[in-house]
Amino acid sequence: MAEEGPSIRLIQAAEHPRLLKMKEMFVSKFGSVPEFYVRAPGRVNLIGEHIDYCGYAVLPMAVEQDILIAVEPVKSQTFYLANTNSFYRDFSTSVNDIHINKTKPQWHNYFLCGLKGIQDHFNLKNLTGMNCLLDGIIPPSSGLSSSSALVCCAGLVTLRANGLSLSKTELAEICTKSERYIGTEGGGMDQAISFLGEEGMAKLIEFNPLRATDVQLPSEASFVIAHSCVEMNKAATSHFNTRVMECRLAAKFLAKYKGLKWKEILCLKEVQVKLGVNLEEMLLLVEEVFHLEPYSPEEICKCLEISLEELRTQILSKNTQDVLLFKLYQRAKHVFSEAARVLQFKKICEEAPANSIQLLGDLMNQSHVSCRTLYECSCPELDRLVDICRQFGAQGSRLTGAGWGGCAVSLVPTDKLPDLLANVQKAYYQSKKGRLAVEKPCLFATKPGGGALVFLEA
Ligand code: GLA
Repeated sequence: MAEEGPSIRLIQAAEHPRLLKMKEMFVSKFGSVPEFYVRAPGRVNLIGEHIDYCGYAVLPMAVEQDILIAVEPVKSQTFYLANTNSFYRDFSTSVNDIHINKTKPQWHNYFLCGLKGIQDHFNLKNLTGMNCLLDGIIPPSSGLSSSSALVCCAGLVTLRANGLSLSKTELAEICTKSERYIGTEGGGMDQAISFLGEEGMAKLIEFNPLRATDVQLPSEASFVIAHSCVEMNKAATSHFNTRVMECRLAAKFLAKYKGLKWKEILCLKEVQVKLGVNLEEMLLLVEEVFHLEPYSPEEICKCLEISLEELRTQILSKNTQDVLLFKLYQRAKHVFSEAARVLQFKKICEEAPANSIQLLGDLMNQSHVSCRTLYECSCPELDRLVDICRQFGAQGSRLTGAGWGGCAVSLVPTDKLPDLLANVQKAYYQSKKGRLAVEKPCLFATKPGGGALVFLEA
């Protein structure tokens, strides 16, 4: 059976306050009604951080917060994008002249990534023009994947406006690739869960080939998202890509050490698969191969027997050319141990022992320690927030998403939820000033939500 595309739901905009408001704004902006609407959700990653781009499985769930776009295909070849939030300025361009600015990751560039992904996939010469109005309720730069949700939403908008169809996994793969037009070398977790998310289910997302398996979370567990009030846009700094490159270099080192064709190897999972060994054995190999001190580009070149020029042009990304230190031991150790924690998490959910919540919480806590100490993708505010959540009843708490700011996710026994929310509010947010601390959603309980959808007016 052919794999399914995103669902189409018939609705009456008049019965949905958010859609109705969008429809009214659309009419006053463009003088016509939208032909259809598309939504794509953000996500919270429960465990498995910074390992998707190494080829390892991750365990996220889609959240209710999403990007919603009202669309009218038009005869002209103009693409016009407006936002219900006046903070974001209108943008327009010819659909056949798409330029994505990597130096300034502005909001409309993420739409262009999705649009260009579909254009390139079908090699479309004549895309239809579109009037689009976007309403986003995923807090930006918070680790809840607002940017990927926008890329996915734009991909599905472009697909539908041009009368084309694709399966959810094809869409996820295209949007993963096309988000890289913005310059970040992300894995495929965010796009996969945005399309494959299902209400009530977390998902184990595996790669090569991309697939999603249901993970039923314990019924007495609640998941709480809390914003550290530090914003981090992964496209605006080189932290994220530096980690991707460190993992890539670590993979090449391990492969070379084991006599594999290391030049072809791009990620750590490939090395494990080629060696046919388990994650514990990979962890032992890390101890054998790497020293604890960071590696300079010169040392890397010496070990791989390549020139600095080759390192820069054939391995490193554009924005990591000037990195002076690469921590290969620490990053590889995080990746293999985190990959093992994901599998343990799934197994506990399946076997559901009496102390599931405690066991799952322990894994989340270990994941945070590994992100903080080995992967160095936390920050003091996130560490403090995670400690406060644990102090007030979370069994486990960890940063979620890329890190260096953004949100923490906590596993809380449902009977402790009201107390935890009240106490964390007091302990972390009351003393904080600024937009993020007073704005909602800053601290909220969440449930696994559904994936991307098309809405048509009945
Ligand atoms: C970002 C990327 C994902 C993943 C996470 C870290 O969200 O887009 O692919 O790498 O960071 O787990």
